[in-house]
Amino acid sequence: MDYEIALKKIYDIATTSKPDIVLKTIVEFLYENFKKYSWIGIYIIKENNLILGPWKGSQATEHTKIPIGKGICGSAAESGKTEIVDDVTSDDRYLACFISTKSEIVVPIKRKGNVIGEIDIDSDIPNAFNKDDQLFLEKMADIIVDFIQ
Ligand code: SME
Repeated sequence: MDYEIALKKIYDIATTSKPDIVLKTIVEFLYENFKKYSWIGIYIIKENNLILGPWKGSQATEHTKIPIGKGICGSAAESGKTEIVDDVTSDDRYLACFISTKSEIVVPIKRKGNVIGEIDIDSDIPNAFNKDDQLFLEKMADIIVDFIQ
């Protein structure tokens, strides 16, 4: 799906759905419409840990609580910068969830400059994520921040 169309759809979901189902609906929308997004999760920061919220994928992850600073997820939370890993096997920080994962993107969700959560996407395809994914997901993060406590 085209990223501009997807952003409009995400905005529509955010403005017309019941607030308590917005994050879940958006995660499912991404899973259905971007085939290279194999697993999508939203983590929310609580007391120096990332706690897994809504997610969609073929399997559950054991990493439902990740300390800030640990893994690709914890690194992005610490730095406040998007992480793109083209080949997860070549990154020492990587916390493995699924044997099928080849690449990963983690996009911080910020409120007034502070990281309050993040979007984590795994792909079964190597080098799956580019600048367009990054820009798209960073814009999405700005939309969904209002639905995180
Ligand atoms: N791979 C992540 C952990 C979360 S799972 O991908 C769902 C990491 O290295 O932080």
